[in-house]
Amino acid sequence: MRQGPATRVMKADGAAIREAAACLAAGGLVAFPTETVYGLGADATNAHAVARLYEAKGRPRFNPLISHIADVDAALALARFDATARRLAAAFWPGALTIVAPKAPGCAVCELATAGLDTIAVRLPDHPVARDILAALGRPVVAPSANISGHVSPTRAEHVVADLDGRIELVVDGGPSPVGIESTVVACLGARPVLLRPGAIARSTIERLIGGRLADPERADEPAPRPAGPGMLASHYAPRARLRLEASDVAPGEALLAFGPSLPAGSHHAVAVLNLSERSDPLEAAACLFAHLRALDATGAALICVATIPQEGLGAAINDRLRRAAAPRL
Ligand code: TXA
Ligand code: MG
Repeated sequence: MRQGPATRVMKADGAAIREAAACLAAGGLVAFPTETVYGLGADATNAHAVARLYEAKGRPRFNPLISHIADVDAALALARFDATARRLAAAFWPGALTIVAPKAPGCAVCELATAGLDTIAVRLPDHPVARDILAALGRPVVAPSANISGHVSPTRAEHVVADLDGRIELVVDGGPSPVGIESTVVACLGARPVLLRPGAIARSTIERLIGGRLADPERADEPAPRPAGPGMLASHYAPRARLRLEASDVAPGEALLAFGPSLPAGSHHAVAVLNLSERSDPLEAAACLFAHLRALDATGAALICVATIPQEGLGAAINDRLRRAAAPRL
């Protein structure tokens, strides 16, 4: 559903970085690669640009955005980091960790971007194109995944174009996002940090660093922020086709998203088979999860069977996304 002129796509070179920064500074919407997924950027300090971003994605306005920054000092100008938040930032930034903390006094990010909360989510991405754009603009950039709200997240420029052509000004094409699954979101608001969204950095990796358990939103010692994250939205990351999880067999006409060397019974009936990782590697599986979901959806199959994926490491985040993709649609 195009709404305006075709979106420009530029290869990620110096000219594209300058163009992206100029476009953002003028209130435009620019999609760019991060290490996790492609983000749809808007100047976080410009309420009009942020309003356009919610509109372009069809995103509910109660769902706050992550402010992306170029360095730790820029984060500290937006958010009040306690000792845990500082340790997390020192250990994992630049990287796929988003930290939710109280807004700092004088925080320049507009109210709309934080959905009126007194907390803010910040992330310093580990991707040269994202970092160059952030540095060139010199302001925080809100960047949700660059897809229509509720749909499969984009890991390539062509996924962004498929969802948002004519709704945004520019896509900077920096090739596939290497990690393939969104950042882990951790709130540092009280005595114990809370895991709001499982993601590209495994829970166990973070727990080793802090030397203790991350709380879960529903079991948090302190009241979890509302909304607590995409957990509030049961259906998310969804292709057009229905999903059947932990499938042990495949019926004629169904598509198969496999994992590991052995295929479920009846796989020869499948209209298409894609394997997340023949060698059962969760990192490899995360990197191709969203691209494979989009490709199987494009076959027109009404149902995508998904093999069982172990919970260890990144498996938890992959299964989180698959459960939401399989959830009843609104
Ligand atoms: O990897 C990523 O994080 C990607 C790339 C582009 O950086 N971005 C991304 O953004 O996944 P988005 O908007 O799809 O997810 C942001 C998540 C949402 O679940 C939102 O609810 C949560 O962060 N969030 C943002 N601000 C929050 C806040 N103040 N309190 C609690 N959750 C917050
Ligand atoms: Mg998203």
